[in-house]
Amino acid sequence: MREKKKINQQWQFHYGEVAAPKKTAKKAHALGGLTAPLAEEAGEPIAYGAGGAHFLKLIAQGDAIQGLKNLAGTDFDSVLDQTWRSVTLPHDWKISQSYKNDPELLMSGSKEDGVGYYRKTFLLDDQLIDQRRVILHFEGVMCFADVWLNGAYLGRNNSGYTSFSFDISEMAKYGNEGTNVLLIRVDTTTGAEGWWYEGAGIYRDVWLEFLPLTSFDQESTYIYTKEIQDNRAMMGAEVCLENHSLETVEVSPVIRINEQVIQLGRQILAPFENKVIKETFVLSEPILWSPESPHLYEAGFQMETDRCRKTFGIRTFAYDAEGFSLNGKPYGLRGVCEHQDFAGVGVALNQDLVNYKVKTMKEMGVNAWRSAHHFASEELLDACDRFGVILMNENRLLESTPWRIADLEKMVRKSRMHASIAFWSVANEEVIGNTTLGSRIAKRLVRCIKQSNYECLVVSAELLNPEGVVDEDYLENYDVLGVNYPEADVMGPGAIKIKEQCSKLPIMSTESASYFSTRGIYKDNGEKCQCSNFGSMFSMVLPGKRQPGDPGVGGTARPEKVIRYLANHRYMGGVFLWTAFDYYGEPSPFGWPAISSQFGIADLCGFPKDYYYYYQAHWQKEPVLHLMPHWNEEGLEVDTGGMVSVRVFSNLTEIELFVNEKSYGTKVVADCMADWKVPYQAGTITATAYENNQKLVETCHETSSMIQSVRSESIFEGEEYHLYKLEAIDSQQRFVPTADARLSVYVENGEVIGLANGDPINQDAHSLETLRLFQGKALVIVRTEDKDVQIKATIHN
Ligand code: GAL
Repeated sequence: MREKKKINQQWQFHYGEVAAPKKTAKKAHALGGLTAPLAEEAGEPIAYGAGGAHFLKLIAQGDAIQGLKNLAGTDFDSVLDQTWRSVTLPHDWKISQSYKNDPELLMSGSKEDGVGYYRKTFLLDDQLIDQRRVILHFEGVMCFADVWLNGAYLGRNNSGYTSFSFDISEMAKYGNEGTNVLLIRVDTTTGAEGWWYEGAGIYRDVWLEFLPLTSFDQESTYIYTKEIQDNRAMMGAEVCLENHSLETVEVSPVIRINEQVIQLGRQILAPFENKVIKETFVLSEPILWSPESPHLYEAGFQMETDRCRKTFGIRTFAYDAEGFSLNGKPYGLRGVCEHQDFAGVGVALNQDLVNYKVKTMKEMGVNAWRSAHHFASEELLDACDRFGVILMNENRLLESTPWRIADLEKMVRKSRMHASIAFWSVANEEVIGNTTLGSRIAKRLVRCIKQSNYECLVVSAELLNPEGVVDEDYLENYDVLGVNYPEADVMGPGAIKIKEQCSKLPIMSTESASYFSTRGIYKDNGEKCQCSNFGSMFSMVLPGKRQPGDPGVGGTARPEKVIRYLANHRYMGGVFLWTAFDYYGEPSPFGWPAISSQFGIADLCGFPKDYYYYYQAHWQKEPVLHLMPHWNEEGLEVDTGGMVSVRVFSNLTEIELFVNEKSYGTKVVADCMADWKVPYQAGTITATAYENNQKLVETCHETSSMIQSVRSESIFEGEEYHLYKLEAIDSQQRFVPTADARLSVYVENGEVIGLANGDPINQDAHSLETLRLFQGKALVIVRTEDKDVQIKATIHN
């Protein structure tokens, strides 16, 4: 039967150029060098027969190896010197590089581009020969990847956001044929794909897959919802069969879903024939998938020679001039946009880190996610299916170059059965949008999506203009017109004008807010690139600190404005907030030394900023009560009269505020918030929430003194990675919200794979042993198989 094996361990990595192997050769499998076994590795650099040996000797005075060198022009005495080191995938080499002050690199995270090599050896059992197909699969390599196997050039993958595979069944070595050698040259100097930090290296899983000769094409096999009516789901299936054997094969494939067995008839497959069987069936009393109840069905695909499983959800999506509907009912999208990086690891995220990110946002009340501006990873698709988040998958560019079309086709087929995919976005803010050229290309891309995914809505995230000018032919291509920042002053009334002109047009917000704030900060500080959580006076478009109302102050739009816009324009479907988390690169509104964005609702580490609770108060039913700022004078904006601003986010009706038990009055919560100005006085600040005159919840901050020690708290336990929050505390166990002490971190029963603090100017040399706290907190990511992880953090003097 089939088997899939991750080969993430024991890779050798070299940063910088080495003598790059040639891509073409005069004799088969003769490229040698690092693409062949080295001295201590089993097997010959190249296999040759008696005639081959004779020939090679003839052309090199009796020395076969010299003969090969003459022919292939390669060396056969390469070694992996000390410049090579062992790495485990997923791996992003940029994260450990130092930062460089170069305006050209600012947007991509101030790290240099370069070339890296990865080498891996593996052995294969000779029982596999003629019994299994062997597929080498890469989930993602950033960026241009050239791949060699066993002395031959396998091929290239261009985009860092696509997965790719090679069938290596024949060219692999088995049993005592020796070691298989894989060499990958990864190059990020070929040009960025995005204007954000994209990372570098083999940053997702690599698999070997062993498939029966007659098998399902698991990736393309598809079960989809056609219609839900009268408690019955009309379903469609496309089951893709492949016969890679020399025989004509007869099989009887079936789909099993719970107790139901869908027979797909007797199928005859000629040698090397591929066949797609299309079937429809009904599932009675379906349990529908929704963010509130993300029920997944499992489909087992079985036949005499193979079996595999995939999950799916039963649900329908629709969009009209009134907005979005899920399962036939109007449904408001509470979405976030998000790139794919994370604190301390760059883009090398495994399933656990993606789960942590999705879970953190889900807890805020998010029900939708836009994979901006690139294809969603398998991990993200999986997390959205399971946590219950509607996904907008996104194509990178509005281009119909053959390789981009091939990438899109592949990624649509691969992702199409995921329960969460409701939308495919064709592109983001393309300047050729709304032109006739753009329209021709969009047509091609939309066709490419719709010919494989029958359920999703196709949208495009467009740039607005204040006049609301659109090209109607261009819009014809989409199910929904997506517009970015319809609520923002800088866009003028563009979206409203479009709606007035085309009242029947389905239109949605694909990006909103871009509101910047620094976790734990309550006063703007240009030098430290810090933005107050009360609303920064820095502007995205003008230099320095500005006045309220100036263009771009605080970001594109304040959260309050976004929520108001959403309430007044329901036909916009909802929101996709830019962004869920801070991300590396694009450090607006600052330049150097800032190295990360601050648009996140949570910081790079996933620690919520204050406005996380504003959205949560709007979007969650459970009582929310959040009080800002902290109560240590050092971090506060105390005015000349000794007064400070205090804000509470809550979904409860009335809040009373106390400083050192003195009441500063009860306020009625409006727009999930209430504001006070109170005299600063060290001690305790408390917010008490009342519902129907009953005291319901209370939260407080206490003034603390010097950091005395550090406590660690487990905040997420995944399959492989555990996440810990470190917090500074004083001698009385009170949190110290301004602490920035340097720590040494030591972990028992686990290996540190990332340390981070979320400071947008943290340029400390990469270390897995020491870090600085930022506003009292830091994050430790540990790889472990043990439940009993112990974190020890000591404070440097
Ligand atoms: C948008 C763009 C995003 C990001 C954001 C920052 O226009 O789509 O990628 O750059 O602006 O505000």
